[in-house]
Amino acid sequence: MITVRVPLGDRSYDVLVGHGVRSELAALLPVSARRAAIVTQAGIPFSVDPGIPFEVFEIGDGEDYKSLATIESLCRGFARMGLTRSDVVIGVGGGMVTDVAGFAAASWHRGIPVVHVSTTLVGMVDAAIGGKTGVNLPVVDGVGGKNLVGAFWQPSGVLCDLDALATLPPREVRCGRGEIAKYHFLTGDDLLAMGEEERVARCVQIKADIVASDEREGGRRALLNYGHTLAHALEIATDHSLAHGEAVAIGLIYAAHLARHLGRIDDARVQQHYEVVGGAYELDTSLPPGLSADELLALMGRDKKVLGDQLTFVLDGAHGVEVVPGVSRNDALAALHSMA
Ligand code: GLY
Repeated sequence: MITVRVPLGDRSYDVLVGHGVRSELAALLPVSARRAAIVTQAGIPFSVDPGIPFEVFEIGDGEDYKSLATIESLCRGFARMGLTRSDVVIGVGGGMVTDVAGFAAASWHRGIPVVHVSTTLVGMVDAAIGGKTGVNLPVVDGVGGKNLVGAFWQPSGVLCDLDALATLPPREVRCGRGEIAKYHFLTGDDLLAMGEEERVARCVQIKADIVASDEREGGRRALLNYGHTLAHALEIATDHSLAHGEAVAIGLIYAAHLARHLGRIDDARVQQHYEVVGGAYELDTSLPPGLSADELLALMGRDKKVLGDQLTFVLDGAHGVEVVPGVSRNDALAALHSMA
C-alpha cells in the first residue's frame, strides 16, 4: 500500500493506494462519526464496511442523474436517517458517484465530512482527488452545462482499492488510461516503467501537488486540463458516444499538434505523444470520422477558457506544459487539419 498526502493545511488528507485498501475504511473515518451514509450505484460490485452503523443510498447511472434532483433525494434520505454534522458520507464508485456524494456532503448541514472509495481508474487518478464536487445543470433555452453547480469540498480521506479495477469493463479501463497518459506530459515521469500500484500512486501524487499549490484553480490547477479543450468538444460533437477518457486521448494528440504548429515543440515531441497515447496505452489517436473542424472549433470556443475571439489552451513547450492564452481560431483550425 502506498499513502499519498494531499497537503492542504487543516484540510489535509491521505489517499491510500493498493490492493485491499478497503479494509482501511473504518480507520480513515472521522473519530466523531457515529453513522455513515454510503452513496453508491446499483451496478457497482464493491462493498465496504465502515465499522459503524450505516445506510446505503443508490443513485441512478448516467449524466441525467448527476443532477440537483439527485442531491435533493440524497438530502431527504440523510434527513430521514438523522445524519448529523459529525457523521460522515462515504462515496463508493467512479467519478460521478464521488462528485455527487461530495456535493451532497458539502451541502448537508452546510458541510459534513466525506470519504471517497474510488472504484474506477479515472476516479483514482483524477475525480476523487482534489475536492471538486458538483452536478450538471440541464440545458434549458440554450443555458446549462456539465458540472456547473458544485463546491470545492475536500474529502477527509480517499481509498483507491486496486481490487476494484478487476471488475471494470475494458472500455472503462481505456478511459482511465486516457487520464493517466495526461500525467506523462505534466512532469515527464516515466510512468510506463512503474507497476500498477506505483503508477496510480504517482498520478495521485502529481495531482495532489498541483491541487496543493492551487486548490481553487486560480492558475496552475488548469494544467490538469491538458488535452481537455478538444476532448470536451469531441464529447459534445459525438453526443457522448466518445467517452471522456477516449476523448482526452485524442485531445492530447491535438494539443501536441497545436503546440507544434505554434513552434512550441518539435516533431519528436509530437511523436512522443503518439507513442504514449497510441503506442503504450493503445488508445485511438485520430479524430472520429464525420466531424466538421468548424463545429469542433465552435464548440472549443464555447469552452470556459475562452477570452474574446481567442482561445486559451494548455500546451506543451520548452518550459513544460503551461496555460497559453491568445491562440487564434486560425491556428486552432490549422492544427485540427494537420491532425486529420
Ligand atoms: N479534473 C481536474 C481537476 O480536478 O482540477
